[in-house]
Amino acid sequence: MKIGVFDSGLGGKSVADAIELALPQHEVLFVNDSEHVPYGTRTPEQIYEFIEPIFQSLVNAGCKVIVVACNTVTTTLIDRLRERFATPLVAVEPMVKPAAQLTGSKVITVCATPTTLTSPRYAELKAQFTKNITVIEPDCSDWSGLIEKNEISKEEIARDILPSIEQGADVIVLGCTHYHWIEQEIKEIVGNKAIVLQPEEALISQLKRVLAQLA
Ligand code: DGL
Repeated sequence: MKIGVFDSGLGGKSVADAIELALPQHEVLFVNDSEHVPYGTRTPEQIYEFIEPIFQSLVNAGCKVIVVACNTVTTTLIDRLRERFATPLVAVEPMVKPAAQLTGSKVITVCATPTTLTSPRYAELKAQFTKNITVIEPDCSDWSGLIEKNEISKEEIARDILPSIEQGADVIVLGCTHYHWIEQEIKEIVGNKAIVLQPEEALISQLKRVLAQLA
């Protein structure tokens, strides 16, 4: 079956690679929007204008399911996209619920784009799952642009992340797929002080369920 994978940029490539590895019997068609990346500081309206034709092109190319490998798109536009397209959409969003279940210190760090952090969906996730938990949201606003250019340094990541560890965070949520590329650096920086969560495994399980229904 043909699986479309979309992200603004390189983040989706990490997700597409993981899907190809886990589901080699399926064909993965990865597209991104190199003209407009990064999305993380754009408005939902702008992003919708960019992605509507791209999603249509994935449907036209015969994709039976589309993976929204972009937290920024999911948290701002998933309902609108589900109304617009009949094709099943499997999407990533910040792993706030698992982080809330895993934290011992009751302090978690969420790394995500400004558009994700100000979205109603993210506010909903926090309201639902982090009532007695402190959520620290470091300023990662330039990370996806730097990752696109392969210009992010371990020093910068450490400067942005370590203050939250000093405040007691013991779980770090990678709420932007671009950050999957720096997961290893983040793990090295925080050592055994925090666990790092990213959604590829959960996404692939969900994708398998959807593919089984379509078969
Ligand atoms: N990779 C995307 C996400 O998961 C968006 C990054 C960006 O374009 O700023 O949020």
